[in-house]
Amino acid sequence: MKVLVVGAGVAGLTTALRADALGHTVEVVVKGSLGDGCTAHAQGGIAGAYGPGDSPALHALDTIHAGDGHGDPVAIAALVDGATAALAALVDAGVVFDRDADGAVARGLEAAHSVPRVAHAGGDATGRVISDALVARMGASGIRVRESAFAAELLLGRGRVRGIRLLGGAEIAADAVVLATGGAGRLYACTTNPAGTTGDGIAMALRAGAAVADLEFVQFHPTVLAAGEPFLISEAVRGAGAVLRDADGRRFAFDAHPDGELAPRDVVARAVVRQALAQDSPVLLDATMLGGDTLRTRFPTIDAELHRRGIDWSRTPVPVATAAHYLMGGVVTDVDGRTTIPGLWAVGETARTGVQGANRLASNSLLEGAVFGARLAEALDAPFAANAADRPLPSQRVSVSGRESDTLPDGNGAEPFSRSALQRLMWDQVGLLRDDAGLERAVRVLDVWRAPQPQTAAEQEDANLLDVARAVASAALARTTSLGAHFRLAPQPTLIGAA
Ligand code: SIN
Repeated sequence: MKVLVVGAGVAGLTTALRADALGHTVEVVVKGSLGDGCTAHAQGGIAGAYGPGDSPALHALDTIHAGDGHGDPVAIAALVDGATAALAALVDAGVVFDRDADGAVARGLEAAHSVPRVAHAGGDATGRVISDALVARMGASGIRVRESAFAAELLLGRGRVRGIRLLGGAEIAADAVVLATGGAGRLYACTTNPAGTTGDGIAMALRAGAAVADLEFVQFHPTVLAAGEPFLISEAVRGAGAVLRDADGRRFAFDAHPDGELAPRDVVARAVVRQALAQDSPVLLDATMLGGDTLRTRFPTIDAELHRRGIDWSRTPVPVATAAHYLMGGVVTDVDGRTTIPGLWAVGETARTGVQGANRLASNSLLEGAVFGARLAEALDAPFAANAADRPLPSQRVSVSGRESDTLPDGNGAEPFSRSALQRLMWDQVGLLRDDAGLERAVRVLDVWRAPQPQTAAEQEDANLLDVARAVASAALARTTSLGAHFRLAPQPTLIGAA
């Protein structure tokens, strides 16, 4: 079977390598270069019940709890049960995980995990180490790779996906197209995601009519350096003992949740934003108690970057703020990656498998890519239509050419479309704290904006961002109550008769 994988993070490369090993003819298409996507930026590790005192059942419970009960238990069981094999496959691929004094894989604690269960490589460089290992395996495999090739549209025919059209017009036929382009962090003015994270796979799937779901659930990371360019300071730093302080030095996170800094990520992110608004300055992440040696050895990437910026975090608490980090929703798939369109598959952050619920548990994303990439490859030969058509699915289809209803007033008065205007609109109105008026305004403005017909990669990204933004905003407007990362502020009371 000819398998075309679009994207080259942990999910795409795991799929490609496994499918190649199973005898398929595999080609990988990536708009940049192998290894320049989100995976390489992941500081957190890969969660799993790898040792004594833990079990897949406990990992599943934590995943469901962090996801605010919205996760799919069947998909979550597949995720946690697959962790040990996924870790072993990465070790086989050459990833060297950090070890404890007994030689076992060292297990770190991150927020909302009830026990330490996160494996790391190179301290806080897990994503980079995994990405490098998989890219090296690709080099040795003979799999065809097209870099600087931007997949723009899916080719449809006789009820199934038959390949892709690249920006510029070239077509590539395939029996199976796998979307593995990551998330859409660049919808927002402030994000931890690298520049190319523009929702490309989700946008292509939307335009082809595939079902998407849970797009209203956007995860904001609570501890991103608030001085200069956004730079992630891993949750593992709080897992190691760092704390959040307000301007008076008080640990405010316990006001929001009994687990304080290690509460689920959505709770901590909201606490950070509210405190920053209340004191009109960023909150502080205090890691001074860990000492310079620990910070250097356990978090070498963060330590080096902070020193490069002239910050000594072993002596001074650092200002932090929230930034868009991860999209829980995406293209609806079953537990093997099949979407609602025969021939079209999705995996990793692009997919909505149901494992991440309404708020992802820390370090479950590299795991999702590794586990579901392998599952997808194994499933490629199984009949598609029978499986896809028969299962019950959340079927949320979203218009990408503007809203179909005209119940809201138009977006007259909005500034013209540009990527930065879109990112500001999403940050202000479809961000971490949402309300009716802001969501309605965002939907109106997104509806009237038009992106130019894409001729360049930047224009294709803009068009994709606009399509995904419409889907995210309309999903957020449609979910009228708060759940997980989707938080709606109560309407303000109107003062009747006020002067
Ligand atoms: C982090 O290192 O804090 C991020 C890990 C993750 O997103 O799971």
